[in-house]
Amino acid sequence: MRAMQIPYDHPLLLSIVDDLAVKGWSQQNIFLPEGLTLELAAECHKRAAEGELAPAAVGRGPFQEIREGIRGDHIQWLEPGEAAICDTYLNLMDSLRLAMNRGLFLGLEDFESHFAMYPPGAFYLKHVDRFRDDDRRMVSAVVYLNDAWLPEHGGQLRMYLKDNVEYDVVPTGGCLVVFLSGEVPHEVLPATRERLSLTGWFRRRGNEPF
Ligand code: OGA
Ligand code: MN
Repeated sequence: MRAMQIPYDHPLLLSIVDDLAVKGWSQQNIFLPEGLTLELAAECHKRAAEGELAPAAVGRGPFQEIREGIRGDHIQWLEPGEAAICDTYLNLMDSLRLAMNRGLFLGLEDFESHFAMYPPGAFYLKHVDRFRDDDRRMVSAVVYLNDAWLPEHGGQLRMYLKDNVEYDVVPTGGCLVVFLSGEVPHEVLPATRERLSLTGWFRRRGNEPF
């Protein structure tokens, strides 16, 4: 059993909180230790082989539909207690949640996340990670699980920042990108190879009755 707890005042978490406060996003190229990245990638592959990943839908509730012309990834939502390695990831993200609550007063109450596998050629068109009828998602967090990714493989996360600045993240294993869900439009460019990630959202409590 590997218990990896990191305190919410770890320098890495503080620097993410700092970036979010100053510019609304953060990139940490060396966030997940290599062993953890490899084990999470193996877990994702295992689930894909067992047919547990399904084409991702767009929209929410009864309006969900599969639209590969909008997003072509296959996903599976995580639940705590399914696999020790996933719990390690969830614990890490919980430390980040506490760090953000302390440093940014966001009142983040939970974290939802899924594995995502983009087959070669799949993409996700420009979007914002917030639903029109549900503004609970405050902070998006993506960690990449790809071994030896090169820029020429494509698959960049393209973020549309202030002042017409576009910024591309190469989805290298162990890298974490965090951004304010309502404020950073972004897209996933197609890649020449399979692209794996864990994507999640820190949420505050909603006011709405559903
Ligand atoms: C998403 C998303 C970005 C990425 O799942 O909403 O934008 O780099 N993912 O995988
Ligand atoms: Mn997104």
